[in-house]
Amino acid sequence: MTRTILPSRISSLGRLNRVLSGKTFDNSRFFLIVDENTYSHCLPILISHVDRLHQAEFIEVPAGEECKDPAIASQLWQTLLDSNADRDTVLVNLGGGCITDLGGFVAASYKRGIRHINIPTTLIGMVDAAIGGKTALNINGSKNQVGFFHQPAIVCIETSFLHTLPDAEIINGLFEMLKTFLIGNRSHFQSLCQTILSGSLDLQPGMIAACAEIKTAIVKQDPRDLGIRHILNLGHTFGHALESFSRHPGQTPLAHGTAVGIGLLCTLYLSVRKLGLDPSVLQNYRAVAEKLVTLPHYTLRDTEGILAYMRQDKKNSGGDICCVLLSDITAPVINLPVPENEIRDALLKIS
Ligand SMILES: NC(=O)c1ccc[n+]([C@@H]2O[C@H](COP(=O)([O-])OP(=O)(O)OC[C@H]3O[C@@H](n4cnc5c(N)ncnc54)[C@H](O)[C@@H]3O)[C@@H](O)[C@H]2O)c1
Ligand SMILES: [Zn+2]
Repeated sequence: MTRTILPSRISSLGRLNRVLSGKTFDNSRFFLIVDENTYSHCLPILISHVDRLHQAEFIEVPAGEECKDPAIASQLWQTLLDSNADRDTVLVNLGGGCITDLGGFVAASYKRGIRHINIPTTLIGMVDAAIGGKTALNINGSKNQVGFFHQPAIVCIETSFLHTLPDAEIINGLFEMLKTFLIGNRSHFQSLCQTILSGSLDLQPGMIAACAEIKTAIVKQDPRDLGIRHILNLGHTFGHALESFSRHPGQTPLAHGTAVGIGLLCTLYLSVRKLGLDPSVLQNYRAVAEKLVTLPHYTLRDTEGILAYMRQDKKNSGGDICCVLLSDITAPVINLPVPENEIRDALLKIS
């Protein structure tokens, strides 16, 4: 896959600079949450463009899923308490989905809720994780088991942060974009598939914004995830289980985006069989997924381990495993009970 440098524009940080210098944040004290990568790659750019953040105190946490842990959240509460942080404190989360999930969780809970600003630095963050107000921690390796809805005061999307993001992380974000376009925009889905199949990881200008806008529009209709927002879970009932299962001994750990990408393949397979989705969508998507990653091969025994996680999914009801499937691109169907033998079949058909 080839990748040229994405267009650089620092305009979003310029806007953030103006907003933070305004009245709304007059009395605010800022704490910046970073991991080791965003500390070295993104923090210098951020503070050189946003005056109010020059004096911000920064807190570094471990990179990746390791930081979405109650023990880390507890350390952050303690740091805030030790610094006498009051309710005017603002947490600035500079990083990928792990940082925004953790920082959002701490903001939602500290003093019963303080403001936070999400500045996503990964593609997943820009198109998905930083938007929508869901925050979460993992419990003993099981993903996102505790969390709050807590909307960020600001989401600042600055695409120039992607310059330093490794290709593997771009690929994770591309899978989430494919998911969102499957739900919300046929022509963007087709054009993103074409770009990837041509061997390029370059995103057309506007694609990131278009994707972020689709998610924002869905969240606005159902901020607390009681109905229509479930469509954003396309591929995730499988994806979260595959991600958790991949941490088992002998398995290759899968990043969230890649797990969702493989979950989408299972989802489209079931959608063809159960809802009459055009099989060419599945074929096209399979070619795209194979271009981006090596698909895993699951044994019958593996499927039991994966099913154990799927049974814990928050979207299940009445003892059934429920999935979002598609009857067509942009026509998702939510809360569909899927028998376990069909889930096993989809998992065995991946590779
Ligand atoms: N709350 C939501 O709505 C939501 C939605 C989607 C995903 N998520 C969560 O997001 C997490 C995945 O997010 P992610 O893929 O962004 O992972 P991540 O936060 O772990 O970031 C991936 C890696 O990239 C590094 N990195 C970040 N920005 C960088 C940059 N600009 N340059 C170089 N390296 C950089 C990070 O340090 C990390 O090592 C999962 O935990 C998932 O559950 C949440
Ligand atoms: Zn996701």
